[in-house]
Amino acid sequence: MSTRTIVAMPGDGIGKVVLDEAIRVLNKAGFNADYIEGDIGWEFWRNEGNPLPQRTLDLITEHKIGLFGAITSKPKDDAFEALSPELQKKGLIYSSPIVGLRQHFGLDICLRPCKTYTGNPLNFIRRGPNDSIEEPEVDVAIFRQNTEGLYGGVEWSNPPPQVYDALMTHPKFKSNFGTAPVEEVSVSTRIFTKKYTERIVRAAFEHAKKYGYNSVTVCEKPNVIRETSGMMYKMAQNIQKDDFPTIELWNTNIDAQMMWLTKNPENYGVIVAGNMFGDIVSDGFAGLIGGLGFACSAQYNPETGIGVFEPTHGSAPKYADYPVSIVNPIAMVESSCMMLDFIDEQEIAGNIRKAVADVVQERKVQTYDMAKMTGRANVIEKGAASTTDMANAIIEKL
Ligand code: NAI
Ligand code: MG
Repeated sequence: MSTRTIVAMPGDGIGKVVLDEAIRVLNKAGFNADYIEGDIGWEFWRNEGNPLPQRTLDLITEHKIGLFGAITSKPKDDAFEALSPELQKKGLIYSSPIVGLRQHFGLDICLRPCKTYTGNPLNFIRRGPNDSIEEPEVDVAIFRQNTEGLYGGVEWSNPPPQVYDALMTHPKFKSNFGTAPVEEVSVSTRIFTKKYTERIVRAAFEHAKKYGYNSVTVCEKPNVIRETSGMMYKMAQNIQKDDFPTIELWNTNIDAQMMWLTKNPENYGVIVAGNMFGDIVSDGFAGLIGGLGFACSAQYNPETGIGVFEPTHGSAPKYADYPVSIVNPIAMVESSCMMLDFIDEQEIAGNIRKAVADVVQERKVQTYDMAKMTGRANVIEKGAASTTDMANAIIEKL
């Protein structure tokens, strides 16, 4: 087996801890790789005025595969104040480096699977007939368009005259917003393009076919957001009819989907959505299978083969400085399994997933979230596993 080079980007806060633990698991599982550290995050914003330095982009261009922990993002004004006075003079504007990374490499396909672990004390339960308690098995794969839509960054406050004038040509803008003073208007656009909408919808259908899911649900809002959501749904209808006639196509609205989330989550298979609704619906389903400590993701560009794999959670700054880290590394470990799938190391991925499933089912080693404790430094004294304990338990099973 040849040695791979993986760009390891710990980022900020707990990102640093969980990535180290995941790499320890990968090593013990027999994955043969070198890890080169990629700089990203708050420290590089403060010291260099760039949270995503060019050298990190170069590393990813060269090695193609990245593992990412989490970054800390702050609002524009707070970010400006964090800069040294020297850098403040340069008129730099902070923007999230992980969003920047996705856009720079066109990592347009984001896959967030949410699958119940047998025996996880955090599994969703609901009341069934005659007051019985049911624990529905969730197994969904959410495909989120990762580069366009509401997170595309095309937005203005007090839009410049060309933009404002163009907006005024739209009768609805004119009648609903035309009387507001321009300096009181903020606009965030939701742009979908045919190429990338088709790519995410096709990726969803292909995944359904490959892994035997019988439905793909477009979770948008085409009855109201007619142009963008409408385009995605229409495209899904055509793709289903022409290329995947045996897979059912369902259409849900994001608001109704959130209501159904707890009513019948076991009914859904593959779900596809734009950037923001994909973000929402994936967090919703993650809550049913254990929350942020379990939610993993892959994001990749099918044309270039560049992929970055990361837990959905952020840097959880309030837990970052505990003398012993208490957060759950499973989301990061699972994200690295998605990396292994992507580079055709399914066997090692399968071994790690089995080890995680066994540890979860045994319930002997549980991080504070699994033990349903409030996340304080003293949870370790109360019997919760530390981040390292959990990784050790997984390693022991390998
Ligand atoms: P967060 O995901 O960092 O934390 C929210 C809460 O979830 C935590 O306080 C903790 O209770 C729980 N949690 C998160 N990860 C966990 C884990 N591995 N095990 C157990 N519990 C866990 O989100 P928050 O607090 O909204 O944001 C903190 C910072 O992270 C912000 O600066 C935000 O911008 C950034 N962020 C970065 C993301 C990324 O790097 N992809 C994604 C989300 C937020
Ligand atoms: Mg999110």
